[in-house]
Amino acid sequence: MYLNGDFVAEDAAHVSIFDRGLLFADAVYEVFSVLAGRIIDHAAHMARLERSLAEMTIAHDAAATDWAGVLATLIARNDLTEGTIYLQVSRGAADRDFLFPAPGTPPTVFAFTQARALVDNPMAQRGMRILTRPDRRWGRRDIKTVQLLYASMMKMEARAAGVDDVWLVEGDVITEGTSQNACIITRNGHLVTRDLGHHILPGVTRLSLIDIARQSGITVEERPFTIAEAQGAAEAFVTSASLFVMPVVEIDGLSIGDGRPGMETMALRKAYIDHAR
Ligand code: PDD
Repeated sequence: MYLNGDFVAEDAAHVSIFDRGLLFADAVYEVFSVLAGRIIDHAAHMARLERSLAEMTIAHDAAATDWAGVLATLIARNDLTEGTIYLQVSRGAADRDFLFPAPGTPPTVFAFTQARALVDNPMAQRGMRILTRPDRRWGRRDIKTVQLLYASMMKMEARAAGVDDVWLVEGDVITEGTSQNACIITRNGHLVTRDLGHHILPGVTRLSLIDIARQSGITVEERPFTIAEAQGAAEAFVTSASLFVMPVVEIDGLSIGDGRPGMETMALRKAYIDHAR
């Protein structure tokens, strides 16, 4: 693991119980995917990290750290060929107080790897079944903070109901998945995904995929869409660093299209993986 400037073994990686990441969820994070030992969309993830830090006024100068070198060392030392890297920066440790600590309190910075099969994920063959649930997260979902309890609870609710995940909704309008961006392909072949703002995370995979789709001649519409529009769509899918492009085949018990992963979705999944390689 990388912790505050050093590479240490997992059982030697300790943080204070006063860390504000622990006491106030006062921390931001990134998840990078690694394929064939290489990080996908590295620059876009670093740019989002810097934005999250700035929005939270956490004083970690990401540009001053050789993050490319740190991540490369983690990949090498852990023999990671395929999987993810988790990176977190908290506001650091200080006596418990709602007010931020004095300037100069060093942020707590760490990163670790997780090996897992991303390309050969069996879910890509069967597709995800999802439920919709009210979006009860805070109002700055564009910042990638570690306040993930509601997403965690909704994933447990999906699991208890025998499905794979949840799409969060405001009224009947979809914001995003618990840990992915939500997309549909309309019957006239347009890719529709929610427009950016404070209500969703600006997904790095979403951004890459919009580029890839446009390059292959697909019209992309960034706008709100309802549960009913998604259920009546030709295809549906989610995007995230760890799932890439993952087909959705059922929403609230109703099949999308013929109930199998869509052809356009699978073509986009392949195009995304090719771009990553
Ligand atoms: N989740 N929306 C939310 C709420 C997310 O947590 C994520 C990522 C995304 C997709 O963003 P990206 O394409 O940059 O991964 C959208 C990561 C994977 C996680 O928390 O593990």
